[in-house]
Amino acid sequence: MDNKCIPLNGTDYVEFYVGNAKQAAHFYQTAFGFQPIAYAGLETGLTDRSSYVLRQGKLTIVLTASLRNEGEVAEHHKLHGDGVKVIALNVDSARVAFSETMFRGAKAHFPPKVEKDDDGEVTLAAIKTYGETVHVFVDRTNYSGPFLPGYIKWEPKYQPKDTGLLYVDHIVGNVNWNEMDKTARYYEDIFGFTQLISFDDKDISTEYTALKSKVMSNDNFKVKFPINEPAVGKKKSQIEEFLDFYYGPGPQHVAMATNDIIATIADLKNRGVEFLHVPDSYYDTVMDRVGEIEEDLDELKKLNILIDRDDEGYLLQLFTKPVQDRPTFFFEIIQRKGAKSFGKGNFKALFESIELEQGNRGTL
Ligand code: FE2
Repeated sequence: MDNKCIPLNGTDYVEFYVGNAKQAAHFYQTAFGFQPIAYAGLETGLTDRSSYVLRQGKLTIVLTASLRNEGEVAEHHKLHGDGVKVIALNVDSARVAFSETMFRGAKAHFPPKVEKDDDGEVTLAAIKTYGETVHVFVDRTNYSGPFLPGYIKWEPKYQPKDTGLLYVDHIVGNVNWNEMDKTARYYEDIFGFTQLISFDDKDISTEYTALKSKVMSNDNFKVKFPINEPAVGKKKSQIEEFLDFYYGPGPQHVAMATNDIIATIADLKNRGVEFLHVPDSYYDTVMDRVGEIEEDLDELKKLNILIDRDDEGYLLQLFTKPVQDRPTFFFEIIQRKGAKSFGKGNFKALFESIELEQGNRGTL
């Protein structure tokens, strides 16, 4: 099998299927500072759904809700609740990406199609991945419109400022028991990804809960997909909790990069975004582990930002609580200062914090 990496330019957009796209759009504007970009719905000739497109830096999110009691969006939302349906990948040729991944054994979601309007044309094609999640290949080389053909510019008066979010750093998928290896192999075989790191239950466990993870990446490191599965512990893994409430595998978190995590987190907290809390004692020993950093530790402690170091540098990160009622999808905010890893040193403190939340939910 030709295992050359499928050429990918990065994440094009992430599409969420939600119960109420209009209200979700307000939340992402108000709480996260995403800017309004485009809209499609009844007014543009759609009869079954409405979609709001928002952007911050290179991060584009689409929020789609069904207008009907049946159909793909309605069925998906009924089963999974609010969650990520599409992880779209920007490519120079959607046709080549589709035919090559199909040749290597991918399952088609839809074959290449050209969509046009006055602003040019876009070629789209899509394949399936874990659970009901889909990768759409997007070639927008010959397009100058706000998002995709069929969408109109969305210019509301209400436009809160951004919060300094820049691009997708990585997107994590949760899969079923014993499916991590299979899913990692899918990205190896179909996309030509390589494994950057793996964690087993010895790395990622507390006294009570555990998970396993493999980080898959493309050759230019612009697309990184860690894949998690639950592992046996005394109590229920957070991955199992996700699978129970999402009714199957799905994207667990999108990590969004910033160049100034202190300003970004302070802003997000002021706007009402809720984050996981690690105990103050975390900061008593963290410096022994990470050594010298440029930031003021007191400031990091005040905002509860986590720190980790690898051979190449350090990183600062923090995780939101789930952003919908089901304890499923959440966001990570990350600032890399040389480090290419994912915060292994923080896993224990984080998972103890998640266990506390699970305990409050009665799902531990
Ligand atoms: Fe992450």
